[in-house]
Amino acid sequence: MSKKDYKRYLVTAALPYANGPVHIGHLAGCYLPADVYVRYLQATGKDVLFICGSDEHGVPITIKAKKEGITPQQVVDKYDGIMKNAFKDFGIAFSYYGRTSSETHKETAQDFFRNLYDKGVFKEEITQQYYDEEAKQFLADRYITGTCPRCANPSAYGDQCEKCGTALSPTDLINPKSALSGAVPVLRETKNWFLPMGEIQQTESFKEYIKRFEDWKSNIKGQCNSWLTEGLQSRAMTRDLDWGVPVPIAGADGKVLYVWFDAPIGYISATKEAMLARGQEPGASSTSWQDWWKDEDTALIHFIGKDNIVFHAIIFPMMLMTHGEFILPSNVPANEFLNLEGDKISTSRNWAVWLHEYLIDFPDRQDELRYVLTSIAPETKDSEFTWKDYQTRVNSELVSIFGNFVNRVLVLCDKYYQGIVPVSKGTLSDEKLQAAQALCFKQVKESIDNLELNLSAIKLRDAQAEFINIARAGNKYLADTEPWKLIKTDAESVQVILVDALQICAKLCVAAQPFLPHTAQKLAAMLNLESLSWNLLQENEIITANHALGKAEILYKQVEDEDINKQLQRLEDIKKANSVQPPEVSVVSELKPPISYEDFDKLDLRVGKVIAAVKVPKADKLLNLTVDLGFEQRTILSGIAAYYQPEELLGKLVTVVVNLAPRKIRGIESQGMLLMAGNDFNKLYTVAPEQDIELGSIVK
Ligand code: 2FM
Ligand code: ZN
Repeated sequence: MSKKDYKRYLVTAALPYANGPVHIGHLAGCYLPADVYVRYLQATGKDVLFICGSDEHGVPITIKAKKEGITPQQVVDKYDGIMKNAFKDFGIAFSYYGRTSSETHKETAQDFFRNLYDKGVFKEEITQQYYDEEAKQFLADRYITGTCPRCANPSAYGDQCEKCGTALSPTDLINPKSALSGAVPVLRETKNWFLPMGEIQQTESFKEYIKRFEDWKSNIKGQCNSWLTEGLQSRAMTRDLDWGVPVPIAGADGKVLYVWFDAPIGYISATKEAMLARGQEPGASSTSWQDWWKDEDTALIHFIGKDNIVFHAIIFPMMLMTHGEFILPSNVPANEFLNLEGDKISTSRNWAVWLHEYLIDFPDRQDELRYVLTSIAPETKDSEFTWKDYQTRVNSELVSIFGNFVNRVLVLCDKYYQGIVPVSKGTLSDEKLQAAQALCFKQVKESIDNLELNLSAIKLRDAQAEFINIARAGNKYLADTEPWKLIKTDAESVQVILVDALQICAKLCVAAQPFLPHTAQKLAAMLNLESLSWNLLQENEIITANHALGKAEILYKQVEDEDINKQLQRLEDIKKANSVQPPEVSVVSELKPPISYEDFDKLDLRVGKVIAAVKVPKADKLLNLTVDLGFEQRTILSGIAAYYQPEELLGKLVTVVVNLAPRKIRGIESQGMLLMAGNDFNKLYTVAPEQDIELGSIVK
């Protein structure tokens, strides 16, 4: 960032599409680094606003709706809450989490479009666009797949190749295919409004803006410069779709704003909503959204994954610039991708570690995952998560170095001084001890100096490594001075050593905040610290004589081989399931012998709605569902965990056998059975009426 001292920092994290749960790739690529940085800024006393929210428009939503057989609105309502909770569970402390389906957003995005339209920024063009004659609709870019002309990736999308990052137009694709019907699409005429990016690229203000790239991470600079050298093409800011913000001008019926036009404006609308909410808090500081977006003293920083670079570093700034009233990004720290056990993370292949599932197997161990993901953050190139590496880092760094050091110090202080900090005389009696002390403080000081997070370079991995070095130096100090032996001969030196060690624990607590917020909170209670201001890192004495310490607790538990093997087995099963090809011809199972109508009539079948769904611990096949039948809610265990993620079932209508005798499975009483259609070896589907009808309705 060119300017050093901003008045305030507006940090945004890419608005995730509300079409699925959150996995470790999302966390490592964007949300965790943004959160670490925000927490650091806050600890240093900066005025920060941290904005995110659900991206609820665009084709990713409509594709998901088609796949799940529900409406786009149902998709976004379902996933908005799931994503918000996952972020909260992992301590991603957004100041505000919005939704692009909100009324404020619709108005803000439409005003923005109108402003550019009135200024004559857009070029109105009639173009040929791909149309699916089977599905009878124009195909949005994401509904067309084909081969990337640049890197030959056979599954590139019509707007972008996710393999090489190139922004594409559908007509660039070789062998295009409709993702709706599989048909080869045909070209038809339609009118849309284009942002003339090639022209804007030549303006003085854009040339001035791109000077900022010089200070940015090299992956962003590299990608942007390569697009600019090739020359930018105009891009349509409106689309022929029925899901999105309607285009607010005459003659645009049936068209919506391009999702990449409306989504980044979501940062602005969420800021407006955040300020409205803040205005209702007593004694709130500034509540003007314009301060955050229109004052050059604000640093605007977009944290994103590498597939979002062109939109944040070029297209959105062009929109802001042509509007004229807004500041431009000070930095766009984009990360590369995280892989999992040697393969690309993939939602459709279920090749991921989902945050909500991690918490079932590792309850209260959010900071362990945060720690590992920051250690391997894909800051400069793609990186790799493996469960073995997770186990090694947690056990040999968090447990053996940090947790062990803090625990030894607090346990010894409790034992020797009953938890009341003794008066330290300040010098050690012998030369060897003094040398150990000097070395320890030299190492601690160097680590603290290197801990400062430099935004342009955004090296959080290194910063976190320095944090653990502080604990390493503390551990070595104890190992070299052995206070537990010395106590028999030189109690005064032990006081000096333990008070020194307590100061290091306090510094660790301060420095842990950005990386390990749950731990910092726990440790602050153990040390009985009130302030955790970053300035304390420069103090010699944070904890003074006679201060009463809190109760010592173990900070981290060892990760056992069996914990890891379970995760590896799960991935192995997924790999197997992915490699099994469903039979070409469906296998019709043998018919059962006939029954009388009276036999059939004994069944009481009702329509219900799934309102809660969780996995049953230690039972890989079972889901524990709460089904609303209108007249009552029931707990039903269903063996469909292999076919459905719990959150996919939320809100789904189902058919329930309600008069089946209750059965206890794994200590839980199942009060009914869901009807499912399909073949066990392939996929089972829920059976539901074709319309939303009253819950409890009879099926006959
Ligand atoms: O890639 C994505 O998940 C997009 N929904 C990111 C949008 S970021 C911003 F523009 F809102
Ligand atoms: Zn490509």
